[in-house]
Amino acid sequence: MNAGDEVVLSRMEHHSNIVPWQMLRDEKDIVITVAPIDDIANFLFDEFEKMLSEKVKLVAITHISNALGTITPLKEIIAAAHRVGAKVLVDGCQAVPHMRVDMQDLDADFYVFSGHKLYGPTGVGVLYAKEDLLNAMPPYQGGGDMIRSVTFEKTVYNDLPHKFEAGTPHIAGGIGFGAALDYVENLGFDNISAHEDHLLAYTLDKIQAVDGVKIIGRADNMAGLVSFTMDLAHPHDIGTILDQDGIAIRTGHHCAQPVMDFFDIPSTARLSLGLYNTELDIDRFVDGLHKVNRIFS
Ligand SMILES: Cc1ncc(COP(=O)(O)O)c(C=O)c1O
Repeated sequence: MNAGDEVVLSRMEHHSNIVPWQMLRDEKDIVITVAPIDDIANFLFDEFEKMLSEKVKLVAITHISNALGTITPLKEIIAAAHRVGAKVLVDGCQAVPHMRVDMQDLDADFYVFSGHKLYGPTGVGVLYAKEDLLNAMPPYQGGGDMIRSVTFEKTVYNDLPHKFEAGTPHIAGGIGFGAALDYVENLGFDNISAHEDHLLAYTLDKIQAVDGVKIIGRADNMAGLVSFTMDLAHPHDIGTILDQDGIAIRTGHHCAQPVMDFFDIPSTARLSLGLYNTELDIDRFVDGLHKVNRIFS
């Protein structure tokens, strides 16, 4: 990247796919542009395509928004970015627990996700990149194991993947992560998607019966979660009341403040669906929302 080169993000990015590019902007004077969404959180592909030019070196985009559940049209995004010679980095944190992801089919240049989103340990994750890119990139850390040979005059770096794995790795985390991957693969991603898609439709149907609920993000293609506000209660109050009945949801800005700003709200309450959830969980959650209304009315 050089001064004036562009990185295109989407409006829905997690802070972890915004802040590093701002750090690079400070270092190299690159330009960050932001692809828009509509008011139900659909990714606006035509608007995105208009932003592409030979100045764009990277498109860094989420696969599924952790704040809104939108699934971005990744294959089209990647093909369009490649047409102008840009590379694409995908934040797959929220996609990998919910659906089968095929690197060959997507053709992403980089794809990243965290172990703990996939029922694995924290502090470990995956950075996938195409082999030619990894070969072309210098190591980002120096230390043991990332070398083939060292003298005081010169170091020759090791082959992939060792070149990028300096020092003693997070061995326990890696083993735990492997067990988590085996676990979800044995259950079958198609089974997981079908189960969660059913629960998502069930939730969207049931939640409508609750007064004062406003769903934030109702994209045509979404997965894994329902983000919402309630007229009478702040998201943190909703979370606290549900928690007292043993129902854990996430409340806050979900590390995606720019998209909260877009909807002109500080935070939402978010029901996240996992492979372990059942319709009974959703029924209890909806009962909990009625309780919130009773307490605050
Ligand atoms: C879409 C998305 N991207 C990135 C992250 C950050 O993951 P980590 O905290 O493992 O860096 C999260 C998790 O909060 C996420 O949901």
